[in-house]
Amino acid sequence: MKIEGKPYRTIWFENNIVKIIDQTKLPHQFIIKDLRTSQDAINAIKTMEVRGAPLIGATAAYGLVLSIIEKNDLPFLKKTSEDLIASRPTAINLKWAVNRMMKKLSGIDNNEILKLALEEAKAIVEEDVIFCKNIGTNGLKIIEDIANKKKDTVNILTHCNAGWLATIDWGTATSPIYHAHQKGIKVHVWVDETRPRNQGANLTSYELNEEGILNTIIADNTGGILMQRGQVDMCIVGTDRTLSNGDVCNKIGTYLKALAAKDNNIPFYVALPSSTIDWNIKDHKKIPIEERNSEELSHIEGLDKDNKLQKVLIYPQKSKAMNLAFDVTPARYVTGLITEKGVCKASEQGLKGLFK
Ligand code: MRU
Repeated sequence: MKIEGKPYRTIWFENNIVKIIDQTKLPHQFIIKDLRTSQDAINAIKTMEVRGAPLIGATAAYGLVLSIIEKNDLPFLKKTSEDLIASRPTAINLKWAVNRMMKKLSGIDNNEILKLALEEAKAIVEEDVIFCKNIGTNGLKIIEDIANKKKDTVNILTHCNAGWLATIDWGTATSPIYHAHQKGIKVHVWVDETRPRNQGANLTSYELNEEGILNTIIADNTGGILMQRGQVDMCIVGTDRTLSNGDVCNKIGTYLKALAAKDNNIPFYVALPSSTIDWNIKDHKKIPIEERNSEELSHIEGLDKDNKLQKVLIYPQKSKAMNLAFDVTPARYVTGLITEKGVCKASEQGLKGLFK
């Protein structure tokens, strides 16, 4: 998708260097950063210079490529793979991408391993682009139906950033929105600010602006009253891990939006590529939920009057804060899962019908 009219992807490989857009600096600064070592890739994931389930998977795949460039040695590659998986525990795409790479590279001799690793990392990236594009065409039909019935602008609420910045291109939750916009359907997006890191305000609103899509940032608690007032036609969110029974783990606050949507009879869709499905864990309580530094809550960053980025404390100095990054929305609150293969019920039967 575009930034200042120029098409970008979120990650690419050039002259043995991995290039990323540093998302910790958006929307105020657009900085392309070089990742030269596997440790750079691990740090970029940990510090959320790259974030979003599919993008951290792709970064991990390239992290293994960088590890081979640094030191073509199996124990080092294995250690890198473990460190990458541990760098952010909730989004399953990370583990999925590392396991896929390691399976491909197992038993390959040293002369060939770099070429194969690079091919596989590129395959992961290209596949994600196609999957996200297909999520868009599948989700477009849902937006189109609402537009045809309503004969007016379709108001869509989204949470966090499941946009192209969270993937390689198109995004998951935003892909149907971009497709609808390109087809001339009038859409307006309610963007949940998404405290504490403000991925909605900083990233989703930013990328929608760059594509010319009408959007309004709202505080995370505003969705409920907008739904009661009939100002939300549908919700679409992304996911970091969807269980085979259809339970959806996503950015903290997603669950409360789903409850409000259910209470107001508003369709609540979750968009995901198949790389986000966890076929193994059956009980959502077993999903490792990331607890992040409480400083993400107590401090906030923005531009001061001289246009300089500043971080300030907004809490009482003596207060403690707790920062859980994800929650789980039970399948019963999810109207449907929008995947690259079609839209299905949030259930084992629904998912297996498409994928097994
Ligand atoms: O903590 P983040 O910013 O990595 O969280 C991102 C989300 O929760 C997204 O909704 C999810 O990864 C889906 S991205 C297509």
